[in-house]
Amino acid sequence: MSVAGRTRLVHLSDLHFGATDPAMHAPLAAAVRDLSPDLIVVSGDLTQRARAVQFAQARVFLHSLGAPVLAVPGNHDMPLHRPLTRLLCPFRAWDRGWSPEREPAWQNDRVIVVGMNTADPFAWRRGVIRRGQLNRLGTRLASAGNRIKVVVMHHPLEHLPGEDQPLMRGASQALATLPGLGAQVVLSGHLHVSHIAPFATAPGLLSLQAGTALSHRRRSEANAFNVLDLVPGGITAQIWRADAKGHFGPAAPGQDFALG
Ligand SMILES: [Fe+2]
Ligand SMILES: [Fe+2]
Repeated sequence: MSVAGRTRLVHLSDLHFGATDPAMHAPLAAAVRDLSPDLIVVSGDLTQRARAVQFAQARVFLHSLGAPVLAVPGNHDMPLHRPLTRLLCPFRAWDRGWSPEREPAWQNDRVIVVGMNTADPFAWRRGVIRRGQLNRLGTRLASAGNRIKVVVMHHPLEHLPGEDQPLMRGASQALATLPGLGAQVVLSGHLHVSHIAPFATAPGLLSLQAGTALSHRRRSEANAFNVLDLVPGGITAQIWRADAKGHFGPAAPGQDFALG
């Protein structure tokens, strides 16, 4: 049930249909439905290999959850083993199988959520964020008035110490630019690690990194997702993680952050 004045987002990421843990499908669907979000955000890697059948599975699953879905592509949503297709029409499968929109937006009267496509056909895994994308984002956020401004992208803008993957191209410049555009919260995935904290190099901007919600390609943690409750001026953010029996629940108390 929707609560007056509060906007609830469920932040899923890295579903990897084609490489999911089938035992987790029903528990994840039940947990998301019980949370009754206003919007489900998916920060990329809906599929494992950008196959039509994998997009179809993602579509059926996500559209069964009882809320609108906003999703952006991840690197796995472009073909890896078909380089010609990847270079000539990297998002054909996404466009046909999910949506022709790769940078979608959603808003109500209190919150705007804007997606950015950071999947890079020329550097399959690493990702890129370009100046032109930031310019477009600035235009969209400028028209959003005093709504809370949430940005979604697959690749993180900042890595935690010890991460061995290279940061995506353009990440540092984007992180330096986003606060000036009015962004307040950034949702991302890709690393299959959950983390909620202000960015170290942009402390006025809150980063929510989601683990993998369904994939068996887990790194150091069980399947997980994030829950965001947004109210004017603030956010409560919480990681939900699967327990040993495969049921999702809060991994720790929600963390409260003021949004300037
Ligand atoms: Fe992934
Ligand atoms: Fe990824």
